[in-house]
Amino acid sequence: VPPERIRNISIIAHIDHGKSTLADRLLEVTGTVSSRDMKDQFMDSNDIERDRGITIKLNAARMNYINPVDGLNYVIHLIDTPGHVDFTFEVSRSLEACEGALLVVDASQGVEAQTLANVYLALDANLEMIPVLNKIDLPGAEPDRVVREIEEVVGLDCTNAVMASAKAGIGIDEILQGVINYIPPPRANSHLPLRALIFDSYYDPYRGVVVYFRVVDGEIHKGDKIKFMVTKKEFYAEEIGVMTTEQQPVHVLRSGEIGYIIAGIKTVDDARVGDTITTSAKGADEALPGYQEAKPMLFAGLFPVESDQYNHLKDSLEKLKLNDAALQFEVENSAAMGFGFRCGFLGLLHMDVVQERLEREYDLDIITTAPSVVYSVMPTKGEEFFLDNPADLPEATKREFISEPYCKLEIITPEEYVGTLMELAQGRRGEYVDMKYLVQGRTTLVYDLPLAELVNDFFDHLKSRTKGYASMEYSFIGYRKNDLVRLDVAINGEPVDALSSIVHQEKSYAVGKALVKKLKEIVPRAQFKIPIQAKIGAKVVASQQISALKKDVTAKCYGGDISRKKKLIQKQAAGKKRMKAVGKVNVPQEAFKAMLSIN
Ligand code: GTP
Repeated sequence: VPPERIRNISIIAHIDHGKSTLADRLLEVTGTVSSRDMKDQFMDSNDIERDRGITIKLNAARMNYINPVDGLNYVIHLIDTPGHVDFTFEVSRSLEACEGALLVVDASQGVEAQTLANVYLALDANLEMIPVLNKIDLPGAEPDRVVREIEEVVGLDCTNAVMASAKAGIGIDEILQGVINYIPPPRANSHLPLRALIFDSYYDPYRGVVVYFRVVDGEIHKGDKIKFMVTKKEFYAEEIGVMTTEQQPVHVLRSGEIGYIIAGIKTVDDARVGDTITTSAKGADEALPGYQEAKPMLFAGLFPVESDQYNHLKDSLEKLKLNDAALQFEVENSAAMGFGFRCGFLGLLHMDVVQERLEREYDLDIITTAPSVVYSVMPTKGEEFFLDNPADLPEATKREFISEPYCKLEIITPEEYVGTLMELAQGRRGEYVDMKYLVQGRTTLVYDLPLAELVNDFFDHLKSRTKGYASMEYSFIGYRKNDLVRLDVAINGEPVDALSSIVHQEKSYAVGKALVKKLKEIVPRAQFKIPIQAKIGAKVVASQQISALKKDVTAKCYGGDISRKKKLIQKQAAGKKRMKAVGKVNVPQEAFKAMLSIN
């Protein structure tokens, strides 16, 4: 079809407002996927995503739409964006590949933190937005109130808003008409040298890396020799095509179109989101603007429970890396834990997903340490350096200062929770920035907060203090100096480096106390007494002792019931799986996450 009959759109929404359901419905109505073939949620194709109901990887679908008004065939590319803050950069790249967006807002809820964050990204990308008031089938829906909210808070004209229910199939034709009428077609620059924006890529074990792109300028032909402008890697375009239900090869893709390429690429690291594809001969001189390297914000140690699984863990991480350019890892040798890997993640969700894949898909038993942010340390001698493992912090006399990353945190909440949320933010060393009344009864709160405090279960506390009604977004704003110290833990006299953390001086005693108390509950008793200490430098700031077991546990069973005795032993053996022997003591996985539950 000619460029004026192409529309490139994405759907932006707060989590759970119905993005995936609407995407499915659009695919169904345009006949792209028949309802019989529709697995629940075509767009969220990954298992872990489906289980968690979140969208992690981007995806794209090409729909053919016969417009009943003019009888002509239009092509609508629907680009799915990840709904989570860990992937902001990927969201912004996928929006750059579009001219417009459907802004989905749950009509029974209203504007939430991610609605706003995504709208800002869409405005940055100059997108035309169509507000979609979803879930109008719900008895609690108040579309009129939410329309006013969008106009007041987001500042978006709602004349073209569509009242819809993705679930009940209401308003879907109006949405498609809106897309045709209000979202501009791509500007076609087919005469220019090729420039195509990569907005997603994934590793397929049979075909190598599949790269999704938007042709911004020029044309790409099957067989072209192409070059990725950031990584400077060159490949032959073995196959190019479009995404209907399956990948459908074509010979050429022109300016404005969205497609995929397969070119014998071995790892997604060679075809990064945000990079520009051009041709090797007579290519473009300048890459498309805005490329950013995905930088890990969080680091954690991953250790195999059994040291003979080390190589398996290494292979598994390498395989995950083929499909995850943001994942970083290097060998870590911990005095207490043995060999493992220090891994870098974009954020908490990214970390959880990697851990879950290692356990589920690669059948590994691993111990993961509490995540650490990246600190900046000025030593007394030498240059400032970054540090992602608290165990590597030079001792107090050998450092001038430590700085830690801060983020700007924006919370949207019903106003009755403002008090408790301010208390939460202040308890987490937050610095108050702003408070605004949004609309009837809802408030936005803005704080500058150390990232380390945010990754410490902040989100769960926010949800539980507000019965789930508050939402939040955060963005990195830079480093600030603080009075930070390292809190170490010794169990049975053995320092456990994997339990060390960096905390604020003022909180260090209280945290030390709470931590040893918690560890006392978690570490199982043994035949001997187990002292647990929290220390700063040589100074013990808190201690507890686990008393010795008096008798063999099996002795509790009444005489001679062998099967019961066996069962108990089996149960203990299974329980042991996720423990790491540190000296003479078995330390369970929960112990390494104990820090997260303190505050
Ligand atoms: P993420 O992928 O996590 O960002 O969520 P999402 O925005 O894609 O939301 P999703 O489509 O998964 O929908 C969230 C929940 O709302 C699901 O339980 C849907 O069945 C439900 N839902 C979606 N649209 C509607 C609707 O129009 N009406 C009603 N009643 N429920 C809906």
